[in-house]
Amino acid sequence: MSKKNTVTSPQTQLMDKLVSLCKRRGFIFQSSEIYGGINACWDYGPLGVELKNNIKQAWWRAMVYERDDIEGLDAAILMHPRVWEASGHVENFTDPLVDCKSCKLRFRADQIPEEDLKLKKCPECGGELTEPRRFNLMFKTFMGPVEDEAHVVYLRPETAQGIYVNFENVYVSMRRKIPFGIAQIGKAFRNEITPGNFIFRTREFEQMEMQYFVRPGTDMEWFEKWREERFKWYLRIGIKPEKLRFHRHGPDELAHYASAAYDIQFEFPFGWQELEGIHNRTDYDLSRHQQYSGKDLSYYDDEIGQKYIPYIIETSAGCDRTLLAVLVNAYDEEDTGKEIRTVLRLHPFLAPIKAAVLPLVNRENMPEIAFEIYKSLKPHFKVFYDDSGSIGRRYRRQDEIGTPFCFTVDSQTLQDGTVTVRDRDTMKQERIHKSEVIDFLKEKITF
Ligand code: GAP
Repeated sequence: MSKKNTVTSPQTQLMDKLVSLCKRRGFIFQSSEIYGGINACWDYGPLGVELKNNIKQAWWRAMVYERDDIEGLDAAILMHPRVWEASGHVENFTDPLVDCKSCKLRFRADQIPEEDLKLKKCPECGGELTEPRRFNLMFKTFMGPVEDEAHVVYLRPETAQGIYVNFENVYVSMRRKIPFGIAQIGKAFRNEITPGNFIFRTREFEQMEMQYFVRPGTDMEWFEKWREERFKWYLRIGIKPEKLRFHRHGPDELAHYASAAYDIQFEFPFGWQELEGIHNRTDYDLSRHQQYSGKDLSYYDDEIGQKYIPYIIETSAGCDRTLLAVLVNAYDEEDTGKEIRTVLRLHPFLAPIKAAVLPLVNRENMPEIAFEIYKSLKPHFKVFYDDSGSIGRRYRRQDEIGTPFCFTVDSQTLQDGTVTVRDRDTMKQERIHKSEVIDFLKEKITF
């Protein structure tokens, strides 16, 4: 986290609490921690990977399964190096970098106060700054055993290019007609100059991208449709509407490939920041790939009897950022009158564990009955069995990781076969028969 965030404002405290909860409860760990960690890389622990998979599944459902016009893809991370020349990344994917000659800190020139930049003054120590120089954010490595310029390959900085180079493969093999889209989830890598704010800006991250191919002239209509559609998805995964807004890019903010762009922003504890970009990429990408590969990437539209290079509307979401937004949005501390309970009010579909099964006490056959219920749920849901500690403590442990329901086996279960269902958000309890728990969860855990 940057030095500016060390003042313990309530927002900083919230981030500190979240980071601590994520480590303590197995959501997110620092990468290579036993070696002192590596900057801007994070590992998802047992609960984090569940939450992340559920976010990806919610995206895939909305973008692929529920629609008739989108196909999925999983392209390789390493691609032909010409791809990145054609895409403009070799030339344009740069940030202006300045160094402080005294404290040796590095900054993005566009992120330091204008006055400091004019005076070439380091915002941290007041030392002298170097002239800005362009720094390419792509990670380079070598393909094969020879480490020279001819064998350079890049770790992809966006997943989008894997879609463009497969445009023809997909529409031919799946007999698609325009308009249609291709969706992909995968890792991307950027050698960010100023990573930070936990998993918000990292050097290795995951994107959920969709490229929608349209007839030129219909592009702005689709652009508008897609930005509305994507905004609704964040509401659907439970983000509070007051925490979301659009930001339209001005001409000086547009990426080198975009003619129009909106960000969907979320109000993080460190301010309003981008979650997702919706871009009108025009025919830039396919035209460039046609030019650099020599392959005809035009499409014959038999409805209008014309050949053209399709325009592309892109929706590009960050999986890790969405996960951070989901955690910030869900985190709550509630005064129950007796204590402050920490609760993650996650959408049930996103919750890493859907239900915990708990015997009230460890005797009178209660553990055996509870374990049977747990086993019956396991093929359908990620569930948890817990018989250690007081029942209150066990409920709190589940609240803190966002488990929406707890089924408790108590003395009444022994008489009539019913269990209590405790709701995470209201803490209210009702009784259902133990044979109904699967259907109960099936009804509640929907998207
Ligand atoms: N294909 C277009 C593209 O990559 P972008 O706005 O540069 O557009 C899209 O990135 C999304 O990827 C961002 O909205 C953000 O959610 C995520 N993202 C970008 N850089 C990131 C980073 N360094 N760490 C985490 N997520 C990042």
